[in-house]
Parts: sequence; C-alpha cells; structure tokens
Amino acid sequence: MPHANSFSILFVCLGNICRSPAGEGMLQHSIDALEPQNRIEIDSAGTIGFHTGKPADHRMRSAALNRGVQLLSRSRKITIEDLHSFDLVIAMDRENLADIQRMTPEPTAELKLLSDFLGDDWPSDVPDPYYGGDEGFEYVLDMIEAACPSIINSISA
Ligand code: 4NP
Repeated sequence: MPHANSFSILFVCLGNICRSPAGEGMLQHSIDALEPQNRIEIDSAGTIGFHTGKPADHRMRSAALNRGVQLLSRSRKITIEDLHSFDLVIAMDRENLADIQRMTPEPTAELKLLSDFLGDDWPSDVPDPYYGGDEGFEYVLDMIEAACPSIINSISA
C-alpha cells in the first residue's frame, strides 16, 4: 500500500504476534488520544512468516486490553517493499534489526530499534515474551509505553 501524504511507521519483531502488534496498537492508541485526525499510518510485520494470518497472541491481546488497547493486527512477513515504502521501521530487538538490514542494502526507510527511543536504564532489546510467563508480556508493554512519547516527538520534530 502507498503511504502518500502521511508519515508511516512499521514495527517489526520475529513472529508478528507478540511484540510488534503491541507496538502498533499502543502507538496507534497514543496517537489517537492526542490527535484523532492524524495522518500517521502504523503497521507491523515479522521477519518470519510462520504465523501469517494469525491474530496477535491471546496473552498479548489480553495484557494490552487491560491497558485499554485492542490489538487487531494479523501476522504478516515483512517484505523488501516495506523497506522502501515506510518512512520509519522500528525493530524490537537487534536480531530483528540485523535480519532487516540483510534484506536490502539501501532501504529508504529509517531503521531504528525501539530502545533508541528509550533512556539507558532500559535494555537494548525488547525481550521475546513468547515462551515465558505473563510478566514478560507486561514488560513488553511497559517498554513500548515508555517509548511512545519519544516516537511521537520524533515524528513531529
Ligand atoms: P514475537 O514473538 O516475535 O514478539 O511475535 C514470537 C512469536 C512466535 C515465535 C517467536 C517469537 N515463534 O517462534 O513461533
């Protein structure tokens, strides 16, 4: 899809069923609250296609819903075209970022880590919560929630 006349952001993790759907939903929620008429497009994708078509993991959906955020995304694999059509790609961890960088030598999208929008007291990687307990899902949401104001500032700067 083209992204004419709007700024576009793609969140990327491994499976696109936990961390990046949470990034997409939480940032959309923050932006909607600030500016309902916004023209910012937000999407998410995974570096693997294993979960293609699936909704976000039910544990992530329920943790987000507890914070008032409904996650509606369906998993899809990132494409090279994404790296030439989105303005900003935010990878959840350094492995995701390295996988993206290997896809094309000259992406037009700016490539960032979520932790680039956080202070040094946060880890570099958003930990993968898939094989862990509920606290891992809460931690993912804490990190994303903390990063949202800087992401929004960087768009409007
Ligand atoms: P995500 O979590 O990258 O945050 O969506 C994962 C989901 C699925 C798998 C790994 C991580 N998996 O191996 O199937």
